[in-house]
Amino acid sequence: MPSFRVETAPRSYDAVVERGVIARAAQFLPPRAGKAFVVTTSDVWRLHGPRLSAALDSRAYEVLLFPGGESHKRMGEVETMAERMVELGADRSSLVIAFGGGIVNDLGGFLAAVFMRGIPVLQIPTTLLAQVDAAVGGKTGANLVSGKNLVGSFHQPLAVLIDPEVLATLPEREYRAGLYEIVKCGIIRSERLFAVLSTRQSGVMGQAPEIVDDIIAESVRIKAEVVSADEKEGDLRRILNFGHTIGHALEAETGYTRFLHGEAVAFGMNAATHLARRVGLLPEPECARILECVRLYGPIPSLAGIEAPNLVARLRSDKKTIQGKVHFVLPERVGVVRIESGIGEGDVLAATQAALA
Ligand code: GLY
Repeated sequence: MPSFRVETAPRSYDAVVERGVIARAAQFLPPRAGKAFVVTTSDVWRLHGPRLSAALDSRAYEVLLFPGGESHKRMGEVETMAERMVELGADRSSLVIAFGGGIVNDLGGFLAAVFMRGIPVLQIPTTLLAQVDAAVGGKTGANLVSGKNLVGSFHQPLAVLIDPEVLATLPEREYRAGLYEIVKCGIIRSERLFAVLSTRQSGVMGQAPEIVDDIIAESVRIKAEVVSADEKEGDLRRILNFGHTIGHALEAETGYTRFLHGEAVAFGMNAATHLARRVGLLPEPECARILECVRLYGPIPSLAGIEAPNLVARLRSDKKTIQGKVHFVLPERVGVVRIESGIGEGDVLAATQAALA
């Protein structure tokens, strides 16, 4: 099974895509490390905890159960877990194992980044979205009342262990939400991945192992390559935000409750694709191919009642908006995107309206 090297200045590590890799978790921990603290949710621990606990059999570890959900991805939870770690005997030799979906990977990683000024973290993502995106690349953080992920740190993990077997218990809606991040990878950087998604829908949806493992591996390969080229999102890494600019606006506008992150990204990809077409970057046949591929993995929840001007107004306060300039990742064709920052608000409004229609 493949393994992809992420090479960044602070740390180089492997993102391993392998069925059953959770059973090998202890091999990825430094031999002399102290106690491990597994940050997880009660659902994940109930479903998959026995496998991890068997893998950690010879190691000292504690489980920190976190309530889960976007509303709990807050500094207060980090402080509560850090206090608990101290009570349970954590010291500078301790490490965190973030075992769960994207919220657990982000918050567990952040806990590791700040506990005693930084201890290692092993990422073991258990949702498709976290496997192909959140757990790879070292972004960690928490939400503020003012917005998502507004506090955080880059904290690269010891390794990322991606076990496609855990997806068998994932609700279909969450699986589809993760697939949209894979669609994103195809559009930004892989015509081959896009072709698999466009032509093998029933195998993808039925979780045929050879197809699922392939599309995860290709997405992780892309993410590893992009992060290795630009860890801190100064340049190339921005392409991973395709669909996220307007997607974040949709999530914020609907209070982070109506759409899963991946579903909001699907909407954002539609809007960005309409926008690329509208400003003359994307030929009509490519536009139609992209919209069709996103549609294949839908539907997303109803967009009724959402007003395009409200979404456009929210773009101005997005954290990716720098000195008032909104940066859009726009496709030129499948597999190739570019960053554009000088797009007129009228075009953005019209493209958003087209995606809402
Ligand atoms: N989720 C986008 C990134 O990791 O940069």
